[in-house]
Amino acid sequence: MTSSIENSKARYAQVGGGPDSFIGSVHRMAARLDNRCELVAGCFSSDQARSLRTGAELGLDLKRTFGSYNQLLAAEAQRPQHERAEFINIVTPNHLHAPVAKAAIEFGFDVLCDKPLCHSAAEAAELSSQLASANSFYGKVAPLFGVTYNYSGYPMVREARHRVHSGSIGTVRHITVEYSQGWLAQQIETEQQKQASWRVDPERAGAGGALGDIGTHAAHLAEFVGGSKIARVLADLGTSFSSRVLDDNASVLLRFESGCRGLVCATQVAVGRENGLRLRVFGETGSLEWFQEEPNTLIVDALDRPRKIMRTGGPGLSQDAAAATRLPLGHPEGFIEAFANVFTDFADTVILRRQDLSATPQWTPSLEDGARGMRFIEAAVASSAAGQTWIDA
Ligand SMILES: NC(=O)c1ccc[n+]([C@@H]2O[C@H](COP(=O)([O-])OP(=O)(O)OC[C@H]3O[C@@H](n4cnc5c(N)ncnc54)[C@H](O)[C@@H]3O)[C@@H](O)[C@H]2O)c1
Repeated sequence: MTSSIENSKARYAQVGGGPDSFIGSVHRMAARLDNRCELVAGCFSSDQARSLRTGAELGLDLKRTFGSYNQLLAAEAQRPQHERAEFINIVTPNHLHAPVAKAAIEFGFDVLCDKPLCHSAAEAAELSSQLASANSFYGKVAPLFGVTYNYSGYPMVREARHRVHSGSIGTVRHITVEYSQGWLAQQIETEQQKQASWRVDPERAGAGGALGDIGTHAAHLAEFVGGSKIARVLADLGTSFSSRVLDDNASVLLRFESGCRGLVCATQVAVGRENGLRLRVFGETGSLEWFQEEPNTLIVDALDRPRKIMRTGGPGLSQDAAAATRLPLGHPEGFIEAFANVFTDFADTVILRRQDLSATPQWTPSLEDGARGMRFIEAAVASSAAGQTWIDA
């Protein structure tokens, strides 16, 4: 890392993340962790008063706090280069990701957007082609675009990826990613629960329920660690209540481009489960297992050898895992730290590109990763609707 990065912060504006929201504040915590980002503006809610309330709580200049993202973008674009927001961080419900991103790209802002990338695969394709021909504020090069598939930021996930990519478990034969939550086991959307109400509404969530909300994380993790892209899916999607339109209980068989087989189970009606994201990768000579609720452990098995338990900050880890770790062995790191690894990688690149437009993020999931997530959702929905048939993703 160059000293010009160490002394700088990437300025950003957030869209979403207002009072009582979930992930916006996590993004802000992650952005602060390595002191590489500065929140300078925001449109935290479409309600001006609520947006201003969050802006005031965060100590923002209220002249840079808006109730309309179009006003925010227009105002920031007018500011001198040295003070204007450089990237727009999108943490609204899914249906607003593409409109906000599209407007941001038009101005030349870099974008860091939460998943799923947007509302449909067609929107994702439009964003991809728009980005390819857009110009950044810094010159004739496309703005940066990142997607916060934050589970890729855990040190032990990066260790698993390193082990697969360096061949230490041989050719990968099978990947299972189970993502089980129980918070939608009852119809809490009928009680106006904020996070539930838009997630079960196809107008705001998109074509996938659990599939879009957590299945896309699982699909990304399988590709990120396994190193091959999902080529085909066969899905069986279930809905636990007659009034729920979107799936809340999804099983998706996978076939990767490499020929590897796999399975994503994404359910939000699993009573007793919290944020149970479990990854298992089986190769010819070894296997790996990681569980999000015990994120500092990676289980490594190999033919004819005793099981190895690898720990964050412990001995024998790759540089990829070590570089994603902040504390010595036994000092637990978790969700915020993993999120921060994505943020800091993206912010470092934003800063570097002030001088070097060829700089690209090392780790941040890309727009194309997000677009593949949208194709995964739509292929799975089509497969299930067609009576569980194989569909290209
Ligand atoms: N990466 C992760 O682990 C993770 C976890 C949770 C949510 N998410 C994603 O983050 C996004 C937000 O999810 P959430 O659970 O925080 O939702 P939420 O309902 O808790 O918060 C959404 C926020 O967006 C604001 N908003 C709505 N319309 C707006 C507009 N027009 N302009 C500005 N702000 C507006 C709301 O006021 C609210 O503050 C979703 O896309 C979701 O899929 C990702």
